[in-house]
Amino acid sequence: MAFEICFSVAMLFSLWLAAECDDLPFEVHQVECRDHYVWAVVELAFAGEDVHFEAVDETGIHPITEEYAAMCGYTASVLPLSGLVELRSSYFSCHTENKDGVFKLNFNLLVTHDGHLVRYNFNKTCTPAAAWSPREITCEVNYMEVSLRNEVTCSSVKMADDWNDALRAPYTSAVSDWQVVFQRAGEQSMPMNVSEARKQGYWFDLMDERLVFRTPYGQPDSFSTEMSGVPVEVVHATLFSRQSWVVIMVDLVAACSMDEGSYDNGYIMWDIPDMLHPLVSGIYDTQVNVGVNGKLEEQPVAEQRGYMVEKHNATVMISIPYNAEGGYRKSLHLMGDLYEYYVFHLYVEQISMDEDDVNTRLRFQKTLATPLLPRPVFTENRTVLEDRVFTVYLGDVPEDVKLTAVQLNGHMYIVPFINSSGHTITEVVHDNHTHDYTVQVPFDHHVVTEQFSREDEAIKHMLDINFTLTVLPENEHFYHHTSVYALTDASPPEFEANCSETGIIFKMDHRPFDYLWFISIGSERLTPELAAEHKYNMRNDSQSLVLEVPLFTDGYQYKDFSLKGFLGTFEVLVRDHGTSDVQTQVTKSCPFSPKEFIACSTDGMMTVMVDLSWVVALGGIPARTNLADKYCGPKEADDTRALFSFPLNSCGSIIKLGKEYVTYENVVFSTKTQALKYPSDSSNIQGVKLQCTYALAGLHRLFSVYKFDSDTEGVGQIVHPAQSPEVQQEPIGFNEVLQTPGPAVRHTRPFVKQPPSQHIRVSSLVKNLPKGTRGATQLQVRYNGL
Ligand SMILES: *[C@@H]1O[C@H](CO)[C@@H](O)[C@H](O)[C@H]1NC(C)=O
Ligand SMILES: *[C@@H]1O[C@H](CO)[C@@H](O)[C@H](O)[C@H]1NC(C)=O
Ligand SMILES: *[C@@H]1O[C@H](CO)[C@@H](O)[C@H](O)[C@H]1NC(C)=O
Ligand SMILES: *[C@@H]1O[C@H](CO)[C@@H](O)[C@H](O)[C@H]1NC(C)=O
Ligand SMILES: *[C@@H]1O[C@H](CO)[C@@H](O)[C@H](O)[C@H]1NC(C)=O
Ligand SMILES: *[C@@H]1O[C@H](CO)[C@@H](O)[C@H](O)[C@H]1NC(C)=O
Ligand SMILES: *[C@@H]1O[C@H](CO)[C@@H](O)[C@H](O)[C@H]1NC(C)=O
Ligand SMILES: *[C@@H]1O[C@H](CO)[C@@H](O)[C@H](O)[C@H]1NC(C)=O
Ligand SMILES: *[C@@H]1O[C@H](CO)[C@@H](O)[C@H](O)[C@H]1NC(C)=O
Repeated sequence: MAFEICFSVAMLFSLWLAAECDDLPFEVHQVECRDHYVWAVVELAFAGEDVHFEAVDETGIHPITEEYAAMCGYTASVLPLSGLVELRSSYFSCHTENKDGVFKLNFNLLVTHDGHLVRYNFNKTCTPAAAWSPREITCEVNYMEVSLRNEVTCSSVKMADDWNDALRAPYTSAVSDWQVVFQRAGEQSMPMNVSEARKQGYWFDLMDERLVFRTPYGQPDSFSTEMSGVPVEVVHATLFSRQSWVVIMVDLVAACSMDEGSYDNGYIMWDIPDMLHPLVSGIYDTQVNVGVNGKLEEQPVAEQRGYMVEKHNATVMISIPYNAEGGYRKSLHLMGDLYEYYVFHLYVEQISMDEDDVNTRLRFQKTLATPLLPRPVFTENRTVLEDRVFTVYLGDVPEDVKLTAVQLNGHMYIVPFINSSGHTITEVVHDNHTHDYTVQVPFDHHVVTEQFSREDEAIKHMLDINFTLTVLPENEHFYHHTSVYALTDASPPEFEANCSETGIIFKMDHRPFDYLWFISIGSERLTPELAAEHKYNMRNDSQSLVLEVPLFTDGYQYKDFSLKGFLGTFEVLVRDHGTSDVQTQVTKSCPFSPKEFIACSTDGMMTVMVDLSWVVALGGIPARTNLADKYCGPKEADDTRALFSFPLNSCGSIIKLGKEYVTYENVVFSTKTQALKYPSDSSNIQGVKLQCTYALAGLHRLFSVYKFDSDTEGVGQIVHPAQSPEVQQEPIGFNEVLQTPGPAVRHTRPFVKQPPSQHIRVSSLVKNLPKGTRGATQLQVRYNGL
């Protein structure tokens, strides 16, 4: 698998890292003597810092530029994942002071921040513990370095094919100064002296009894080859000097594996050929040690971390688990998804022996990176229904990713999260460099939406969570979205309904989610105002709602009239808060038996039960009473009462038409009372007057004999004859009295004056009207002296 991203530790001297702006001073964090180099690390305190190094020695101050570093054995790199700047310096660097195996290195650190340049000096004196191998080759990220012990015993003489060619030039041109030629594909460059070679970027030196050669990669004299299928870059320099008749000649071959590394199946892999170059590595008994960040690990540690070194054919394959200890990881947000990659600063040491038991030690510094690996965060629904709280867990959040905002059903909450608004957001940090968040939102939190779910017969609480996650230090935002819901018991409220003598009592116990519904009487929402208007008796406390609807108030429906009484039905509707749809209806029918009643129906029937005690007192019999039309008798009668039911404009009714109202009037006569003489001279009436008054506006067919049709029931009135009539307070003002022609009309007299009476008025809503419109029915009963 090829590398998808090419990570390189560039020679960056300017960096912009978003670090916290506290007032830490810049400092050289640490300087260490390592096996073959000095290591210094600088912690960056500010964003936008410009960092430079200078090498200092007796000869002066030498700015370490990219080119100079590659020639002189310095490697400065930014470790972007840790916010550190690292300087590695070879012990054989150009400005090392060396005496008796002691190496002194002296540097300046230059930091420019906000236009201010600050220079810090630091130095290190090192005495490398391990003895140098006869030949040491270092493959740094920016240069190759070879050092040879000055005196190598040559027990065997190697006679290569090109030996004669190689010898020819030095022999003929050599002067006593050291000269160098570069060998490339069997050809030699022109000899040049060492200062000339330095101008071309090569460094030759004699230090600590060792001959040092250093070259940047990609020099014109370098060549690429392949060893065991691994690309290798080689620079082959031959240094020679003619001392009288002897030519001293030293082959300096720098060869490094140029394998880019690969990623497969969770492992980062890097290959080194067993033999980099015939002149570099011996083929006997190679030994490989692996480490990271410039330090070799002991075998058990390496094994425990899962580092693997395998030899296949003539290749050493090094594999490191992508998330092994020692690597750096970084989150990256790309096109809405979260990825991560790991970077390893691999450090490999390869020791090989040649047939003369001369060992060569090769050291490789190599930066390897995995491709972008998907690193999804996930959410988990951890809601416990009984708690009535949404609990949503956001897990596997890498440590360089922070939750910076949360949208709960579109309501934005940003860091710092405070618990005051009813929900909580908690963070837990784990040892494995992840952290997680738990968001808790109670079902009754104002952001949670609810809906009555008919198929589940439950309330569906819904919460959409949109997490804003921020990748640090770039402050790149991305979003993670989840929706949760929970179903809770959501039967509409239930009513208990009881009959009383004077009406119907409804009772409902409050539940916390009853706000999902409202109660209505017909189409009107039940409010304290409506209750007052319709004279309902409503008590609403924190526990329960009690609605007492007295008989004859608006909303009643009546049926089954008989002498025993009638059924009064009242209906309470429970409607969905959102849609106003009726969810349930609570209908209660109660038998009522008042002494008298009159009902004026919408379809034009007058039903009346009239108390005829006074008729009885006068010797009459209720069963023998009749209406204005003497053929219209009672449907039922007992000893004192009679029940009549007849179409409004039949049985001799008279019709009185006012501006806004029409009144149908009839009379209950008794054969006895018809013969009676009333004391009042103005009294022309000798019976009980029955009246039904309708609003004209609601009437559809006023004069139709066949069909009567009113939106509302009429107002009924029973007027008993009185001994001492007084002025009657007529409920309706008439300005005209009409008489319908034909046999139905008997009486054309105006209302008689009546004594003060007792009233009961009731309103109700009537269902199933022919017109479809529901209206109030009014029934008014007047008692006289009862
Ligand atoms: C090396 O650094 C120390 C302080 O760390 C300082 O005292 C000393 O003078 C320095 N030596 C040189 C040669 O700059
Ligand atoms: C090195 O060679 C160059 C050109 O051939 C010459 O100019 C220079 O003087 C030589 N340097 C030394 C130290 O011999
Ligand atoms: C080793 O070489 C043999 C023969 O050239 C080849 O078949 C085999 O695949 C190689 N093994 C590896 C791991 O490259
Ligand atoms: C919010 O509440 C949780 C759980 O009770 C607690 O862990 C957290 O510290 C609280 N956060 C704040 C900012 O008070
Ligand atoms: C990290 O640790 C936590 C707690 O032990 C665990 O739940 C989580 O799965 C771990 N994550 C990874 C990526 O290993
Ligand atoms: C989450 O919020 C961001 C920013 O407001 C918005 O762009 C994105 O579309 C939201 N995602 C979802 C799934 O609602
Ligand atoms: C979340 O958890 C609750 C409670 O266990 C459950 O009722 C609900 O179906 C779950 N799923 C979603 C998507 O909310
Ligand atoms: C209805 O009657 C039942 C049984 O008599 C009684 O327990 C209940 O309290 C009554 N409810 C109301 C609202 O009057
Ligand atoms: C009864 O009181 C509760 C508050 O205690 C209120 O939410 C509800 O709307 C009231 N019901 C009516 C019908 O007024």
